[in-house]
Amino acid sequence: MAEATEAAWTASYAARMTPAPWWQTAVIYQIYPRSFQDTTGNGVGDLPGITARLPYLAETLGVDAIWISPFYPSPMADFGYDVSDYRDVEPLFGTLDDFDDLVAEAHRQGIRVIIDWVPNHTSDRHPWFVASRSSRADPKRDWYVWRDPAPGGGPPNNWLSVFGGSAWEWDEATGQYYLHSFLAEQPDLDWRNPEVEAEMLDTLRFWLDRGVDGFRMDVIHFILKDPEFRDNPVLPGDDRVWAYTGQEHLYDKLHPDIHPLFRRIRAVLDAYPGDRVAIGEVEVAPWPDWVRYYGEALDGLHMPFNFQLIFLPWDAAEVRAMVDAYEAALPEGAWPNYVLGNHDQRRIATRVGRGQARVAAMLLFTLRGTPTTYYGDEIGMVDVEIPPDAQQDPFGRSTPGLGRDGCRTPMQWDHAATAGFTPAGEGWLPLNPDHETRNVAAQLGRDGSMLDLYRSLLRLRRAHRALQLGTYRAIERVPDGVYAYRREDGEERFLVILGFTGAATEVEIEETGTVVASTLPDAPDRFTGRYRLRGDEGIVIRLD
Ligand code: NOJ
Repeated sequence: MAEATEAAWTASYAARMTPAPWWQTAVIYQIYPRSFQDTTGNGVGDLPGITARLPYLAETLGVDAIWISPFYPSPMADFGYDVSDYRDVEPLFGTLDDFDDLVAEAHRQGIRVIIDWVPNHTSDRHPWFVASRSSRADPKRDWYVWRDPAPGGGPPNNWLSVFGGSAWEWDEATGQYYLHSFLAEQPDLDWRNPEVEAEMLDTLRFWLDRGVDGFRMDVIHFILKDPEFRDNPVLPGDDRVWAYTGQEHLYDKLHPDIHPLFRRIRAVLDAYPGDRVAIGEVEVAPWPDWVRYYGEALDGLHMPFNFQLIFLPWDAAEVRAMVDAYEAALPEGAWPNYVLGNHDQRRIATRVGRGQARVAAMLLFTLRGTPTTYYGDEIGMVDVEIPPDAQQDPFGRSTPGLGRDGCRTPMQWDHAATAGFTPAGEGWLPLNPDHETRNVAAQLGRDGSMLDLYRSLLRLRRAHRALQLGTYRAIERVPDGVYAYRREDGEERFLVILGFTGAATEVEIEETGTVVASTLPDAPDRFTGRYRLRGDEGIVIRLD
């Protein structure tokens, strides 16, 4: 063997023989705990409910990890994203013992547990903030961001709250404003204060010691702001549904000082055995800025969440261009990931329709990168229309039309009056009336159901290293509305062909193989170079 070839072969053999960290091959399932399974009858889901449903997640569905949205003590102004104690469990959701049971049982069933960490802000009822606002002389005063009024009076600068209005709240008693990037009930911590950093990093250790496998870090790109507090540039036009989009957010988030801080966050996780994972909620940004969140030496976030599939138009060419650009922008060794939905966005089946939601599932589970799937999407749940005056979500109340309750309705387990979500009474949000027919029990074992499709795609992915870790390459010449790509690992080669519309189309690709999955029933067994893709059809072919 020539030296160069031998070196390349040895490198690729070594790469294949080195086990990938678990989070690269895992499929992550997001649980919004309020809405998953209630065991007490108070209409709110809880931790024992999640434990009870682990066999469904591990065996029936076949996911590898769960990410649980916040379950910390909270006044629930933002349904748990306003934390009043980072080291305990909200009584509505259970106890610390319940959490320990959940982790032990999940691990016994082969499921990793990722929890939410909310570092940008606390609740205004957190004892730290209560102390901070008690007096200018309090030792915790500078744990939060306090500023004097602007010279002419009014807020210190023009920054806006994501949830509406100024990001500054006046505190009469101490005569200063405090910063809140979200609700006034969610004051921002001052991460430039080393005491805050030390204390918050210690909250990570608290949960790492209890065995969590990683964290999803809430709005992590917000935690450092411009130290000079400069005004954001204002964009022209004033007829926006969401006023927040009327500024260029140059100074109130995505500050580059964050990157050295990530190294310190990572060091906390890396001190523990078992590949604990740091996943960050980082909004869509130009690729060169966004990939910096992996860290220069891959010592930042293991995965900044990639939300592009949520925000792009559902179009084959756009999605392909995004995946190719992402692959090209990724630093050497950085691992991609994709998200189709979460508790802040309209569900995938609402956005693209039920037929295309099946194609979206096939895309999510066959791309190169860790997939994150949102509870209920596996049965094709759609958003429930909840009128602005009935919205529980504070964002829905401040910004009609953008409320998030619709995607947070209770999980539809069966056809009972409460959909199997709660043992008695009503859930905290209305059930979708379609739960009588659209539920886990009805779809289990029904050929061609959405759940059946998810189960088979997850099994296919798990069985083939090429689909988990193999290379990705787009196919160049395909008809409009079609996106096709190869996934390969050594001898194992797959071809994925996805139709992004309801129209049928002829596809020609010079390959032959076995059709191992289709989003529609009655697909032919063989692919012989030509295929009539039906409307809303996607197929996976194992190449000869
Ligand atoms: C992002 C979370 O996903 C969202 O639900 C929350 O309201 C904000 N961060 C504020 O914590």
